[in-house]
Amino acid sequence: MSWTKEDLHRLIKTKLADRLFIVVSNREPYIHISSGDEIQCVVPVSGLTVALDPVMRACGGVWVAHGSGDADRRVVDEKNRVMVPPDEPSYSLRRIWLTREEEDGYYLGFSNEALWPLCHLAYAPPIFYEADWNTYKKVNQLFADAVLDEIGDRQAFVFIQDYHLALLSRLIKAQNPQVTTAQFWHIPWANPEVFRICPWGEELVDGLLGNDLLGFHIGYHCDNFLNTVNLLIEARIDYERSAVIRNDKTTLIRPFPISVDFDQISRDAASEDIKQEMERIRQTWKLNDKIVGVSVDRVDYTKGIPNRLLALDKFLAKYPEYQRRVVLLQLAEPSRTHIRKYKELNLEIDDLVEEINWKYQSGDWKPIIYIREHCSPPGILAFYRLAHFCIVSSLHDGMNLVTKEFISSRVDEDGVLILSRFTGAARELTEALFINPYATDDFAETIRKAIEMPKRQRQARMRKLRHTVEQNNIYKWAGNVISELTNLGL
Ligand code: F6P
Repeated sequence: MSWTKEDLHRLIKTKLADRLFIVVSNREPYIHISSGDEIQCVVPVSGLTVALDPVMRACGGVWVAHGSGDADRRVVDEKNRVMVPPDEPSYSLRRIWLTREEEDGYYLGFSNEALWPLCHLAYAPPIFYEADWNTYKKVNQLFADAVLDEIGDRQAFVFIQDYHLALLSRLIKAQNPQVTTAQFWHIPWANPEVFRICPWGEELVDGLLGNDLLGFHIGYHCDNFLNTVNLLIEARIDYERSAVIRNDKTTLIRPFPISVDFDQISRDAASEDIKQEMERIRQTWKLNDKIVGVSVDRVDYTKGIPNRLLALDKFLAKYPEYQRRVVLLQLAEPSRTHIRKYKELNLEIDDLVEEINWKYQSGDWKPIIYIREHCSPPGILAFYRLAHFCIVSSLHDGMNLVTKEFISSRVDEDGVLILSRFTGAARELTEALFINPYATDDFAETIRKAIEMPKRQRQARMRKLRHTVEQNNIYKWAGNVISELTNLGL
């Protein structure tokens, strides 16, 4: 039996009793934007929010996050709160406002120009500016103030997300030591040799050790974290319990492979609306007699998008019989576009798409359909369902939830997943076809294998993949985090 929303709800009710449940993240789960005279509510393309929203729907409570939409202020109450999701209000979203300078230093700067490249082995050098670090500290304090305000004199369990908020647990506990905190790090943790170039590495590690529980996607990242602690600060490491003891305070370090709401995605993907959307996409892009590959990414240099395009190029050159027959639909969500590295990546991808399409196009066929825009979740499901194969070619990724969304959507038990070995997901999704995204020739060969795989084999693999994701869904993930905490005697 797999975990359900109701199981998680029951667990929260019994284990957390009347404690307030607070999730904190930089990215908000719903963004309000102006669209003419109207206000539109948009769901961001973010693994984190996709994963946590169903948990919050099941548990209720408060989600504290940066209000980044241009109409966000227009919909909140005097405490900066709005009930979400709009169609089924089940929890409260408390928004934090940041100035342009704060957003620059904390989000674009320290979080995404320093920590992001530091933690992902994608050969992008981190940039460390002291001013950004100071803004990062300041914004972590702003988040702490909002969380403390929400808690008041109640008992609370605060579940902190990701690398934007490494100092938060200590700042909360400095004011209210009764609060229990857990933090989940959604990206990889690099090995100590890599991590130690960070000028504020000790403060970051110490900040994270303010938590009672610290989670990573896989055991390997936990080991890297423990080894970093060992190298950087004074602390006792209990390798047997996978715990760090510093100044008499214990932090448990645990792997929790994150997931998605398998049942909900499967239901949505089977709906009549999605079938109609699939038909619309087929007609728009003339896909009826084509072999369709799909990729869905934020445009980020960790995702290996150029590597994937080069592999497709190699494949078409080596197997010309597939020219005019294969189409790669690349959905690309613009991301962090104010950062130079991302601007450069966008140009590189545009060039490659243009070059490859120019090289092979014939009649009204071109091999790459590049769609750079925000795509709504139901729209994405239709793309997944159309695909003969889905490519995830990250150079390094904590987990990668596109993999699990693709699998959950395949209610027809068909479709092949081509998956980078360097994702956290590769540990669980063993029926995928694995690639090293840097090894272009092998990658091209794997595209051929995916296309030529007999239907029976495709279905057998997809059935197993679906079983894995169904059994290890997002409710199990959240349940495991909460159970681990309550075992500590919460
Ligand atoms: O993978 C790290 C992460 O923060 C995710 O949790 C999220 O899916 C993604 O990056 C989105 O990034 P941003 O919030 O910068 O758009």
